[in-house]
Amino acid sequence: MSVDWARLRAEAAEMTRRSYAPYSGVLVGACGLADDGRLVRGCNVENASYGVTLCAECGLVSDLVATGGGRLVAVAVVAGDGAPLAPCGRCRQLLYEHGGEGLAVDAGPGSAPTPLGDLLPGAFGPDDVSARAGR
Ligand code: THU
Repeated sequence: MSVDWARLRAEAAEMTRRSYAPYSGVLVGACGLADDGRLVRGCNVENASYGVTLCAECGLVSDLVATGGGRLVAVAVVAGDGAPLAPCGRCRQLLYEHGGEGLAVDAGPGSAPTPLGDLLPGAFGPDDVSARAGR
């Protein structure tokens, strides 16, 4: 499936304009391509209780599921400056559930996207749950 990375980056940058980040000042936007061609989006939503902040990727995953599910094929995450922002560890796990190790993560213009499997090697995923339950 071909990926319009410029579009994903532009949509992610647009999402930074909706970011609610009064505490850190770090605006984050994310846009993903689902396997049916749908685009899904998210922005970070901070909270006075800092630890319950929602990352942009959380919103993206929620958008994916709420609009019909499917698998993620490609994701761009950017900060307010438009440059790629490395997904945090928790978000790598969230993305893994819905895109697996082959999910292409934007590394910026001029760079090959990074497979999620390189960002989260040896991941624990859905198959591990069924394989290990009750043992
Ligand atoms: N943030 C994200 O939205 N995604 C990440 O993967 C890393 C961090 C947000 C959370 C918080 O609002 C701000 O960036 C600073 O940590």
